[in-house]
Amino acid sequence: MVPPAASATAIPSLEPTSASVGSPEAPLTKEPVKDTILTPRFYTTDFEAMAAMDLRPNEAELEAICEEFRKDYNRHHFVRDEAFEGAADKLDPETRRVFVEFLEQSCTSEFSGFLLYKELSRRIKEKNPLLAECFAHMARDEARHAGFLNKAMTDFGLQLDLGFLTANKAYTYFKPKFIFYATYLSEKIGYWRYIAIYRHLEKHPESKIFPIFNFFENWCQDENRHGDFFDALMKAQPDTVRGFTARLWCRFFLLAVFATMYVRDVARKEFYEALGLDAREYDKYVIAKTNETSARVFPVVLDVENPRFWEGLEQLVRNNAALSQADQSGAATPIKALRKLPYWAGNALEMARLFLMAPIRSERFQPAVR
Ligand SMILES: [Fe+2]
Ligand SMILES: [Fe+2]
Repeated sequence: MVPPAASATAIPSLEPTSASVGSPEAPLTKEPVKDTILTPRFYTTDFEAMAAMDLRPNEAELEAICEEFRKDYNRHHFVRDEAFEGAADKLDPETRRVFVEFLEQSCTSEFSGFLLYKELSRRIKEKNPLLAECFAHMARDEARHAGFLNKAMTDFGLQLDLGFLTANKAYTYFKPKFIFYATYLSEKIGYWRYIAIYRHLEKHPESKIFPIFNFFENWCQDENRHGDFFDALMKAQPDTVRGFTARLWCRFFLLAVFATMYVRDVARKEFYEALGLDAREYDKYVIAKTNETSARVFPVVLDVENPRFWEGLEQLVRNNAALSQADQSGAATPIKALRKLPYWAGNALEMARLFLMAPIRSERFQPAVR
């Protein structure tokens, strides 16, 4: 599990800062939040296996997607305008706190995508040029996204030290097929998250608390294209989305991604409230849409129309609240662990129950696209 030697510093907008005063001119380098199961992860994979991947079963589609990436539709999109001037000062302290948290989490996950794609493109360049080129284009997009979010953080006198994150964050090793499931879902969920906020704010401009949301429409198209790339890649490796084991893994990843997002978003519902959104309703919409989209490539999807599914997620929310409460108590570490034990067990049991719920065969769910 060797952390990728990132070339983050090659991109000026991602340069780490060593400033120590918190103002937009001299932002304070923000300490990364403590890693939990809910914070964005950094990934590494088997580069040899990726390089050796045979794309022939779906090469034409991958070539077409790469051609789209080459067009670089958002080349001139991420340019800050005068709307940003003084916008940070208009936020009240509570909104400011939740918004900065949102910027930080989003920046970290965009940056995590950048690191993985960049490293992949570098390591497979010789043996698998088409795949390497696609990853390089996606790394370009994610670098822009992360840089743009980090720049917004400087409006609040803060900046993420991406160089420090690269060197110090733990990297999770996933076999290529697990990278496909996880990144496919995070790209598609990213698309639905961004577009849902954008459309909501279009109807409710009074809730647009910061000009960064104006950029979400084109931005989410990047994520959509990235998701389509992984869709095509899985179809080039049909065993990743065919057969009994693949069905189990797809269910597992759908559930893990949906449950994590739901628990995290409900825990920071104040951010959604600041935008005039209800975190639960927003997540229900994003989950239903991502589930529907996933049926285009996954052999099975989850039965998110079953009320039992949402009851399960609510149980996870309650367990999570109890866990954070135990964390915040002044008790000694072993006592805390003891208090947390039943909630950890409760989470494991609830996840098992959710996992065992009957899934829906994708061809039944979305016959038109298959
Ligand atoms: Fe992105
Ligand atoms: Fe992306």
